[in-house]
Amino acid sequence: MPIDRRRFLQTVAILGAVSAYATIIVGGTVRGIPGAGTICPDWPLCNGSIVPNLADVRILIEYLHRLIAALTGMFILSTLVASLVWFRADLRIVTVSIMSFAVLVTQVGVGALTITSGNDWVVVTIHLALGTATLAAAIIVALVSLWPTAPAKGTTVA
Ligand code: HEM
Repeated sequence: MPIDRRRFLQTVAILGAVSAYATIIVGGTVRGIPGAGTICPDWPLCNGSIVPNLADVRILIEYLHRLIAALTGMFILSTLVASLVWFRADLRIVTVSIMSFAVLVTQVGVGALTITSGNDWVVVTIHLALGTATLAAAIIVALVSLWPTAPAKGTTVA
């Protein structure tokens, strides 16, 4: 059965927005639990492990934040790839997908900096600001995927 490209794009775009929202909620929880933000002093590993000992609730929440952020990254990357491969002719979806991916990559970099800086307040503030930007960009991509423009004459958009 052939894959419905438009449906695929819409699904990963919506999942990206939902997952970004979940990442923000868990990030706020990390911030709210004393000591959780510095409980994994390394990145991308946590205490030297891919899967750390999750008995400590501070490690559990911090690790969950990283995992959901990784999931968000996969959805946003999939959206970008689908836009570039299948919807090149639709400049709107290509542009917003690239913007969304760029914000995400910056956010993950700043996320790593929150760890290596020992939760420096300036870095954490930038991380919070970029977190909302990540969500906003993902929502815009989802909306554009749901309401595509009519293809220009002579071009085909699936
Ligand atoms: C989609 C990507 C991400 C989003 C949307 C996101 C969002 C957030 C938000 C909203 C907060 C709460 C900030 C506050 O209340 O001031 C937070 C906290 C935090 N994030 Fe992320 N984050 C992302 C990725 C990452 C990554 C990859 C890391 C690195 C491992 C990371 C590490 C942290 C840490 C350590 C905190 C707690 C800071 C503290 O306790 O002061 N984040 N994140």
